[in-house]
Amino acid sequence: TDGTAARLVAENTAIIEDFPKPGITFRDLTPVFADGPSLRAVTDALVEPFAGRIDAVAGVEARGFLLAAASAYALDLGVLVIRKPGKLPREVISESYDLEYGSTSLEVQPSDFPPGTRILLLDDVLATGGTLAAASRLIERAGWVVAGVSVVLELEELDGRANLEGRDIRSLSVV
Ligand code: PRP
Repeated sequence: TDGTAARLVAENTAIIEDFPKPGITFRDLTPVFADGPSLRAVTDALVEPFAGRIDAVAGVEARGFLLAAASAYALDLGVLVIRKPGKLPREVISESYDLEYGSTSLEVQPSDFPPGTRILLLDDVLATGGTLAAASRLIERAGWVVAGVSVVLELEELDGRANLEGRDIRSLSVV
């Protein structure tokens, strides 16, 4: 890519100190999504390295959904929805992952795509990597292939890449 998407992410990310609690610096991407040219540039840049090598895109609830939908439309592909627990009505598989306090899980319906489907996994932020590691495990347990992982923003100090060893990970912006 030519760096336009990275510049737009940097320009449009809102930085909020002490949210959601004291000492945390929250990077809010909603202004990136709110700006049409930024959303388009980000969407294009997320998928560009993987074009022609994927059969579907996956988004992690909730913010990953909007990136997945925009990307899928641009590529004329479908979306795998990776959901929070209890939302999907048919047979699911689940993967748990740790949060700062406690744990949670993500779910997919294996019947939504045939075995061997090559999936690009999308989300807005790579922080600890727990979310995308669980999503990657789900994709493989369902019989699909993780073709790559693409995120808008990577928070380097949390070393999420350590949880995603062996994956082809791209981030448009690293802070
Ligand atoms: C945020 C973000 C990623 C995840 C990254 O989602 O959208 O999915 O956290 O964190 P990790 O790398 O430490 O796992 P959140 O759980 O806040 O859900 P939301 O999109 O529904 O707000």
